[in-house]
Amino acid sequence: MCGIIGYIGEKVEENLLQGLERLEYRGYDSAGMTINRGGEFVTYKATGKVENLKKTLKFNDDLGMGIAHTRWATHGKICIENCHPHFSSNGNVALVHNGILENFEDLKAELSKEGKYFYGQTDSEVIAKCFDRLDIKSLRRVLGKLQGSYALALIAKDSDSIYFVKNKSPLYVGFDGSQAMVASDPSCFVGILTEYYTLEDGEYGRINKKEAVFYNKNNEKIEKYITKLDFKVSYEEKTGYDHFMIKEIYQSRIALENIIERYKQEEIINKLKLLKNYEFDRIYLVGCGTAYHAGLIGGYYLREAFNVDVFCEIASEFRYKNLNIDDKSLCIFISQSGETADTLSVLEFCKEKGGKIVSITNTEYSTIARLSDICFPICAGQEKAVASTKAYFAQCLIFYIITTFLKGKDYILPLQNFKRQIDFGDDNILKPLAKNLVKYDKVFFIGRGVDYITAKEASLKLKEITYIFSTAESSGELKHGVIALIDSSVPVIVIATDEKLFNKTLNNAYEIKSRGGKLILFTSLQIDKDIKENFDYVIEVKKTSKEFQSLQMILPLQKLAYFTAIEKGNNPDMPRNLAKSVTVE
Ligand code: G6P
Repeated sequence: MCGIIGYIGEKVEENLLQGLERLEYRGYDSAGMTINRGGEFVTYKATGKVENLKKTLKFNDDLGMGIAHTRWATHGKICIENCHPHFSSNGNVALVHNGILENFEDLKAELSKEGKYFYGQTDSEVIAKCFDRLDIKSLRRVLGKLQGSYALALIAKDSDSIYFVKNKSPLYVGFDGSQAMVASDPSCFVGILTEYYTLEDGEYGRINKKEAVFYNKNNEKIEKYITKLDFKVSYEEKTGYDHFMIKEIYQSRIALENIIERYKQEEIINKLKLLKNYEFDRIYLVGCGTAYHAGLIGGYYLREAFNVDVFCEIASEFRYKNLNIDDKSLCIFISQSGETADTLSVLEFCKEKGGKIVSITNTEYSTIARLSDICFPICAGQEKAVASTKAYFAQCLIFYIITTFLKGKDYILPLQNFKRQIDFGDDNILKPLAKNLVKYDKVFFIGRGVDYITAKEASLKLKEITYIFSTAESSGELKHGVIALIDSSVPVIVIATDEKLFNKTLNNAYEIKSRGGKLILFTSLQIDKDIKENFDYVIEVKKTSKEFQSLQMILPLQKLAYFTAIEKGNNPDMPRNLAKSVTVE
């Protein structure tokens, strides 16, 4: 995580600030900026969000050059000393870093022996201390020492260029004769540049207003293809909403509309046909966090449709499982950002083993999308809130489409019908429930079958933004451990959408009630009054067709998490300790 940016041109502070605001989804522990003005560095640093840095800035319209950073802390506490940019010992070179330097302890020991002093605890400062001056030769010398992941942007007091390096963390560069830029995300170029270069691992070089010079990992000078900035980054405002999260929950409907339109197009049909022609005898579904849960839903769809083994895996655990990947493996990677380091490294591993690589992502220019044989876009539009909502909804829909197409059936009409039925739940019921939920320090979710997956995602949402301890159990597993924690201080949210499983789930709910637990039912089933009386709350969710019921159900549960976070006084868009894009393993 962390976002880095560098800019040469007029209004340096303003352009860097705008970039930082766009990169803030990558971390918001601290933010900093260094500008070279007439051969001297001017530095601004602030802990917390970019808005704190903004308050300290002195804007200058003149020509200049600078680098900036927004941090998600990995090494060293959140304080000004650890805030980027970091500097060489002689103060001549300033650097911003995204990634993790794995051998930083060894390098630090070496540099300390040479008498170098460290003002902070970050691995990034160690890289800065490897420099005294900045040119391609010294960059190469330092790169030879580094192990780990790093996207770097560097400036020096005596140089007219920004130097850059990319290894396992994303980096893009662009220039147009009057300005130049490097950034972790090409969205920073929108409104400034119209074309950009995408760096591959091991590439490095320098850029100024007039030229870009690139080298590959073998130190050979290379020419690179330029890409047109053809995507529109609509900088969504909260218009009409208090937070992005609640707006994005409601935008699930727009995502569905976008999907219906895009998935009618030949471009997508051809991708689906290509997928249908693949021969495979196993499917692996890989992701992290919410994207992993979307994979679980995908597994649920695919298993119902095919007689083939489907394995759903958390990316960070994948490599420890000795899974058998070969050219008969269909490997599907789910990632909103398309940059999650763990997901990306499994993708590279599966690619090397000959697996067929398919991705489902919201970011069509991302590394995961670029490395895939087929990339299915989720058409959800920019998702700004850290806790993923509309992207989950859209990822699950893409699994529905893939499964339905592979079965040879039409998916457009069922999606259109679902669009008409979508229900976001009744705020007059959800808000009082949220008011009640904040009184507790833990909340459990239970469900069976697909409802267990929804329980997992609902529980993740709640803990991410309310900081209330929460976990999801399969209803049947409760009695094998978790029931020991149940007493009158524990609310349990029961999710029930499957008629056939309801009686079993109900029995599990009664086991909780007998031990004094509070019962909250989220259901789309018709339930008798005397059964309802056993529950402290009953939230009735509109019924829709079976394949979409779990997607219908997640919407009010996302809203419950949102309203509970508001009750707690938290900012649901930027929960503590989290980041939207996790580019470190
Ligand atoms: C972070 C985000 C989650 C997201 C996960 C995977 O933890 O906070 O919301 O689900 O990363 O991200 P991806 O971009 O790969 O979907």
